[in-house]
Amino acid sequence: MNSDQKPIENLQTLDDLITALSEGERTTYNHIIHSIKLEPNDFETYSHWSTDCYTRNCIVDTEKFELILICWCEGHKTPIHDHGGEECWVKVIDGELEEVIYKKNEEEELLPVRLSVSKANQVTYMKDFMGFHSLENISNKKSMSLHLYAKPIRKCTIFDEDSKTFINKEMAYHTTA
Ligand code: SIN
Repeated sequence: MNSDQKPIENLQTLDDLITALSEGERTTYNHIIHSIKLEPNDFETYSHWSTDCYTRNCIVDTEKFELILICWCEGHKTPIHDHGGEECWVKVIDGELEEVIYKKNEEEELLPVRLSVSKANQVTYMKDFMGFHSLENISNKKSMSLHLYAKPIRKCTIFDEDSKTFINKEMAYHTTA
């Protein structure tokens, strides 16, 4: 820890979080993302909504990690997807998100195995060995969630529920800081 770095227990602002992640190792990210309490107004600069689809707003993109803010309108939902081999933490900032985890059976079909609901400041974790997941804003309002990926995710696989096929997808941002 350098002389101006705060102990993980004292992280208070989004800047503190970014500094801790930049100076920390991947093995400390779980502790870091759980340790900070953030409020919706911490994200005024990054929040942009579209009625068409949830938006992916880049806060920081480094070689080690990527921090994005997802802004959801009521009912917005991700496709079922994996995480391109990377680690993924989701911290709800405002509203409620439902997560469904899916695993492949012996016939390579994806079946839902777990459903959970997260509220503000709760964190969920995913990595590909745990399966695929989808996230949905189940609040009766706009919501926001902070997503930490280590390393950054450039591509993932989505499961198209209509054609029942797996599709490679390049990740894109709606806004960058
Ligand atoms: C995404 O990054 O587009 C999906 C949300 C997630 O699984 O973290």
